[in-house]
Amino acid sequence: MESNLNRKDTSLVVVGSGIKFVSHITTETRIYIEHADKVLYLVNNPAMKEWIQKQNPHAESLDFLYTKYPLRLHCYRAITNFILETLRRNIHLCVVLYGHPAIFAQPALEAVIQAKKEGYYAKILPSISAEDCLFADLCIDPASHGCQSFEATDLLVRQRRIDPSSHLILWQVGSIGVLGHVRSHDNSKGAKLLLNHLIQYYHVDHQVILYEAAQYPHLEPRIDTLRLTELPEAPFSRISTLYVPPLCKVPCDEAMLITLGIKSTELQ
Ligand SMILES: C[S@@+](CC[C@H](N)C(=O)[O-])C[C@H]1O[C@@H](n2cnc3c(N)ncnc32)[C@H](O)[C@@H]1O
Repeated sequence: MESNLNRKDTSLVVVGSGIKFVSHITTETRIYIEHADKVLYLVNNPAMKEWIQKQNPHAESLDFLYTKYPLRLHCYRAITNFILETLRRNIHLCVVLYGHPAIFAQPALEAVIQAKKEGYYAKILPSISAEDCLFADLCIDPASHGCQSFEATDLLVRQRRIDPSSHLILWQVGSIGVLGHVRSHDNSKGAKLLLNHLIQYYHVDHQVILYEAAQYPHLEPRIDTLRLTELPEAPFSRISTLYVPPLCKVPCDEAMLITLGIKSTELQ
């Protein structure tokens, strides 16, 4: 397989390690990790850290920046700056983040945008995110009802509107209101606020799923079904994602069907 490493003398390639240990690493990602002059990584799995170090002896963890400041936002900025400073040494730099490296993972995305502005060759390779695992494990096709995906704290502070006829996915639902690095967090206040927001759209008995994709090949995903009203006592973790199934299917607009020459029986 061709990689761009030999074509130019400087590059920034941001890759994802996926969710499941090594199984989600693509061939292309592995090649970039192996051949980079330097690898920077921020992954949440100790085995993955070891694996990256083995692939490339010039690999360095970004963990020291991830906890450097009280606010995560400031840590993200420090990581973006560190990536750019490292790139400016004119090397082939590979940055590894867990999951998909551009999904709920601002620092490397910002670095790639800035690096491109500065004229560097920079790109992001897609990878498997927690949402991809959720679609597979819960047997959901986002096309069937449409799909909304929000960060849980963002949903609350912006009072975002939900379309209850679509699939709803809520990220970082186990650390509502946490903008720093609280190790053990009582999520019950945030979960109550989330419940209050959701019951504007759904019945309190609506069944939802607290989901954790398996992080190792021999493990099964965690799929806890609960009623909305049980949310404040739910066993959240830092990797929990909440799935809220659609309430109903939206009927077709007759005028639009006629305009497009489609019969409703031809649709899914
Ligand atoms: C900072 S985001 C990172 C997302 C990651 N870049 C991705 O592509 O999946 C962290 C959030 O991702 C979700 N997440 C991470 N690992 C997960 C897992 N194993 N199962 C379910 N959701 C997960 C949770 O919502 C968690 O709070």
